Amino acid sequence: MRPDISEEGHISSLTMKSLTFLFFTVLSGLAAATFPDDSGPLSTGSVDYVRQSVAFVGSGPGTNPGLGESLDVQRILKVNRTLFIGSRDHLYSVDLDAPAVDEMFYNKKLTWRSNQHDIDICRMKGKNEAECRNFIKVLLKRNSSTLFICGTNAYNPVCANYTVSDCCLL
Ligand SMILES: *[C@@H]1O[C@H](CO)[C@@H](O)[C@H](O)[C@H]1NC(C)=O
Ligand SMILES: *[C@@H]1O[C@H](CO)[C@@H](O)[C@H](O)[C@H]1NC(C)=O
Ligand SMILES: *[C@@H]1O[C@H](CO)[C@@H](O)[C@H](O)[C@H]1NC(C)=O
Repeated sequence: MRPDISEEGHISSLTMKSLTFLFFTVLSGLAAATFPDDSGPLSTGSVDYVRQSVAFVGSGPGTNPGLGESLDVQRILKVNRTLFIGSRDHLYSVDLDAPAVDEMFYNKKLTWRSNQHDIDICRMKGKNEAECRNFIKVLLKRNSSTLFICGTNAYNPVCANYTVSDCCLL
């Protein structure tokens, strides 16, 4: 599986077999064979309260708000003044210094979907369609120019070193 990159960016290399194997071993070892649940939110706010704040709803240049799929945020990482948002099938970067009134827009988006083969295997195992997607579950800064990211990839986890040029993204 190879992520597509929109805008600048570079994926250095993909499969980290040992980690994938580890994930897989852990997963197969679970009796229920489901992906581990995330812990619940630490705190939640009412819709009316939250509406007063600037929000990221997944739109960016060239996207039509309301037409896209709903945002499914999994991980967030702030590096200097850039916010990285790991979602379902996408990694967004948001410039925190960009002027925003109601909504923050991403300035770059990395699309990273599971390939059809992984989706088919996932479906064969009896998982439903919504689960057989690539949810970004690990989002870490490796060094000044590289992020380390892992996605569930339809129950076949994959990791990548995501390198961005020093000037533009980090
Ligand atoms: C950051 O990590 C990546 C991946 O391990 C490596 O290729 C790159 O050389 C490192 N860059 C720096 C500045 O250390
Ligand atoms: C964050 O900003 C500091 C200070 O300007 C800089 O030294 C560092 O390289 C930046 N980190 C990244 C990841 O860009
Ligand atoms: C990412 O970089 C680290 C350090 O260079 C390396 O050990 C690891 O195998 C790389 N991971 C992938 C998925 O390429």
